[in-house]
Amino acid sequence: MVSLLRQEWFYSRSCKPDVFHAKYKQCTMFFFLEICVDIQMSLYFLFIYGGILRHLTTRVVPKQRALNVAHYILSSTHTIYKKTFISSFADQMIVHCWQLSMALLLIFICNALRLVYGLDNGLALVPPMGWMPFERFRCMTDCARFPKDCISESLIRRTADLLSSEGYAAAGYKYLIIDDCWMEASREEATHELQPSFDRFPSGMRALGDYIHSLGLKFGIYHDVGQKTCMFRGPGAAGHFKLDAQTFAKWGVDYVKMDGCYASENDIDWGYPAFGAAMNQTGRPMVYSCSWPFYKSKPNYSLIAKHCNLWRFAVDIQDSFTSVTNIMTRYSSKQDILTAHSGPGRWNDPDMLVLGNFRLSYDASRLQLAIWAVIAAPLIMTNDLETVRPEIKKLLQNPDVIAIDQDPLGQPGKIVFAVQNLQVWVRHVSPVNAFGQNSFAVAFVNQGGFDACPLCPQTLEVPLYRIGLKSRMGYSVVFF
Ligand code: GLA
Repeated sequence: MVSLLRQEWFYSRSCKPDVFHAKYKQCTMFFFLEICVDIQMSLYFLFIYGGILRHLTTRVVPKQRALNVAHYILSSTHTIYKKTFISSFADQMIVHCWQLSMALLLIFICNALRLVYGLDNGLALVPPMGWMPFERFRCMTDCARFPKDCISESLIRRTADLLSSEGYAAAGYKYLIIDDCWMEASREEATHELQPSFDRFPSGMRALGDYIHSLGLKFGIYHDVGQKTCMFRGPGAAGHFKLDAQTFAKWGVDYVKMDGCYASENDIDWGYPAFGAAMNQTGRPMVYSCSWPFYKSKPNYSLIAKHCNLWRFAVDIQDSFTSVTNIMTRYSSKQDILTAHSGPGRWNDPDMLVLGNFRLSYDASRLQLAIWAVIAAPLIMTNDLETVRPEIKKLLQNPDVIAIDQDPLGQPGKIVFAVQNLQVWVRHVSPVNAFGQNSFAVAFVNQGGFDACPLCPQTLEVPLYRIGLKSRMGYSVVFF
């Protein structure tokens, strides 16, 4: 009990995102600075406990020496010692040493817990933005037949170049994340390290990471907390957490997408925090993206939010309007619990933006981007940047929608009104006025399917107060 309380207290003081930015090491520094306060806090808890015990022991068996020793050990003041039975200097010294060692033990336990619990990485204070190949390029490994579409160094370098030259990076899309199917089927024999496919990533991951960084981008990689990765079935992290975290740190990885295939539900509950702790211990800040809830029948979101920067809560997205709306429905059906646990440093991930591929119309593309922004989702594109149509590129780089997604208040939105297939989604955003009233991002959604004219525009009348806009001063409206 005490250690958990203490952990929250420590977490909020030392490693809160606004205090702690660059490196984990800063947390360690704070830790040393705060040791004195730690001792006081620990003694304080000890004394309260001592006071209660003393009260009980003196009332129930007032004269029993054994119990009195216990009560001295846990008592808080000299007055108490004098009034009672231990008088010798030696006895009092024992009491002091005992108190001190108990306090140190408490500190040790609290901080050991803190190492295991709590992400403390100060990253992803706004939802991460970037690119990932999976929905578009899947697990294509045949570079002889599909040289432009296979998961390879050349696809990643080409995408890095386009992110940088086509304005995506400037718009915020910084994380270039390699998904599944990048690895050799087995670990290196002597070191047991993961190794990238020799044919498809001939320069190795360190060099690729350097290239990505040289363009001002961030480098992400996929892994799996279980025995094998989901589609490629390459080696999972099981049994090698420390080594794999260190390997990623060595390669200059900035973001890890950790999948959960080939692991039992118990392994998952244990594995995600443990891998997060292993990443923490490398000293390299890496955003931690977890698929944890997706593999649980009843996800514990408060636990997940403690360990991950983002988490997948729904099935894999596909390149279709139905898939986008299914994920929206999944979100809205759980929106109270999902929004309760999300905020700066911890985001609900509805999966990638499929804009720019084959099957979303322009309107459906607008829908996906708008809703992803309103629910404060990570904006991770999956497309071939070389072939994205100009109007979709413009949409993807729309600064107003991106500003909503990246709003510093970090409050995810919800569906607040629905009638037939019409919905209103609302998110609280900045600016906040002098009276503490926030602004709102509002998305009106027409999912179509109406009898007479399934795809026609519809008219929706809804009083503003019904969707939470209650300021008497009114609002100025900006449309995107
Ligand atoms: C799972 C994940 C996907 C993708 C594949 C790769 O299905 O949910 O996003 O990473 O694995 O195998």
